[in-house]
Amino acid sequence: MTDKAFATQNFCTLARCRLPVVQAPIGGVAGPSLASAVANAGGLGSMALTWRDAPGVRAALREVRATSTGAINANFVLDFPVDAQLDAALEEGVEVVSFFWGDARSHITRVKRAGACVIVVVGSVDEARRAVESEADVIVAQGAEAGGHVRGDTPLAELLPWVIMAADGRPVLAAGGIVSSEDAERVKQVGAAGVWVGTRFVASAEANAHPSYKAAVVAAGRDATILSELFDGGWPNAKMRTLVNSTVRVWEDAGRPQPGGRPGEGEIIGISGGRPLPRYDSDAPTSQTSGEVEAMALYAGTGAERIRDILGAGAIVSALAAPWT
Ligand SMILES: Cc1cc2nc3c(=O)[nH]c(=O)nc-3n(C[C@H](O)[C@H](O)[C@H](O)COP(=O)(O)O)c2cc1C
Repeated sequence: MTDKAFATQNFCTLARCRLPVVQAPIGGVAGPSLASAVANAGGLGSMALTWRDAPGVRAALREVRATSTGAINANFVLDFPVDAQLDAALEEGVEVVSFFWGDARSHITRVKRAGACVIVVVGSVDEARRAVESEADVIVAQGAEAGGHVRGDTPLAELLPWVIMAADGRPVLAAGGIVSSEDAERVKQVGAAGVWVGTRFVASAEANAHPSYKAAVVAAGRDATILSELFDGGWPNAKMRTLVNSTVRVWEDAGRPQPGGRPGEGEIIGISGGRPLPRYDSDAPTSQTSGEVEAMALYAGTGAERIRDILGAGAIVSALAAPWT
């Protein structure tokens, strides 16, 4: 078996899935239906659990379990307190835990003791080295093309080979701008064990994204996304990639002013699950959101320009897994 084939087999064994395709954590846009559809298709489904309380974590994971027999990736963003949610996820027996945006060291022993596989998402080679030192099982190299919050500045093609070298034999998944079999084939050739994909799953039938958000991803053309810190309500000082929408355009026309001096700051532009949503809030619009959906944080990677349709999650998994099947 080649080293590349071994890395893929190793990932699938560690993460307990059949195909090396991960539906990346995509906030509230991925609910239990998407995670279980991906798992049922042989991939690894993820649930972003940072912003739920412990009973909410348990309820969400039980809902995935009720409709799927596959493994679940419980995701935590370390810019926020996650201890109670992580404990709840481990008690529910998740097979995989992934960490983003911070130092995972203090959590990893606990996760491994519970028997789960640890994935750490990195945006630089230094971060990859730290993940290896802290004994992560799998590393995700997130290129600057990625949708949502973006950890580093380096494009995937440049970052991936260096992270694979730093990973010292651990499987590395490629993330950022991957939407098709051709994209997956390209990263496979470089040595990626599999793919970690967000935006392509935003435009899936099972995603909990607001229908207008899904339509905006499908309609995105060239240069449709921007990397900024604009949608900072609830998560300040963090870079994210979103579609260029009316909020972005008005802010750019005003000369990109700093927080406190931005057009329409504080204005309520919608409601999500009963919570009023101010302009520049970091929550993406879901099926529970109403109001000026077009003006909200429409997270999307550069690959959005090549997404032309809303597909079932199973079809997306099969297409992305094609190079490995
Ligand atoms: C709508 C959306 C929400 C996201 N939320 C999270 C999150 O909660 N936790 C996380 O680790 N990454 C999050 N990300 C980043 C993804 O996990 C992943 O790195 C990224 O989507 C990969 O790039 P792609 O969108 O081009 O496929 C989010 C991405 C999107 C598009």
